[in-house]
Amino acid sequence: MSTDDVPGVVQVHLSSFPGFFLSFLGPRFLGIFYRGIREDESGIGYVYLNPAGEPAGFVAGTVNPRGFYKRLLKRDWLRFSLASLGPIARRPAAAGRIVRALLHPGQNPVGDSVAGLFSIGVLPELQGTGAGKLLVRAFLDEAAARGCRSVFLTTDRDGNDAVNLFYQKLGFTLERQYVTPQGRRMNEYWISLAPQGV
Ligand SMILES: CC(C)(COP(=O)(O)OP(=O)(O)OC[C@H]1O[C@@H](n2cnc3c(N)ncnc32)[C@H](O)[C@@H]1OP(=O)(O)O)[C@@H](O)C(=O)NCCC(=O)NCCS
Repeated sequence: MSTDDVPGVVQVHLSSFPGFFLSFLGPRFLGIFYRGIREDESGIGYVYLNPAGEPAGFVAGTVNPRGFYKRLLKRDWLRFSLASLGPIARRPAAAGRIVRALLHPGQNPVGDSVAGLFSIGVLPELQGTGAGKLLVRAFLDEAAARGCRSVFLTTDRDGNDAVNLFYQKLGFTLERQYVTPQGRRMNEYWISLAPQGV
């Protein structure tokens, strides 16, 4: 994912996650978020390009998940704050949720050898054509190349069978279930990576 890809990634995010909280925060917020992942030295980002060379899918995450959102917020707090003003004016209750989401208190696993896959999306018209699988594989390969031995991710437990099946087919194992402060029931998946250079 290059900086030039970020506006396209934001559009894919908005199309593939309609109704989700991050989408409600809007393109400006999402642009800062994905640029932050791209620019963080621990970040991993890949795009799937359509024949015209535009992003039609993306995957993003980090090889240093613990405290990742806090680091992003600290580095870009002013721009995140400004981008949050519109959404908070539209829905004041969003303020507390933004702070909680960005601080992500202690949920992410610790360890040098763990990567977190935080976000993946493919344009609805391309879903089911293999793009998601390629993106996950690229992410896993990069995490392994950077010395990670496992990757985790979380996804909704309810009304989300297709995505849960997608991860299971790719070899992820359901390791933990929990409920967010907003009452969302989540599944946490893990996959082990083959050691590199052995
Ligand atoms: C989840 C998502 C990224 C998957 O990408 P995709 O390009 O549609 O998936 P692929 O075409 O690469 O499918 C990979 C495998 O998963 C399977 N799969 C994909 N969607 C499926 C579904 N609805 N039901 C059952 N299996 C499914 C495919 O059959 C394929 O299996 P195969 O290798 O045996 O053929 C994509 O559907 C998406 O963007 N969804 C909306 C955003 C989202 O929810 N992201 C995840 C948040 S955690």
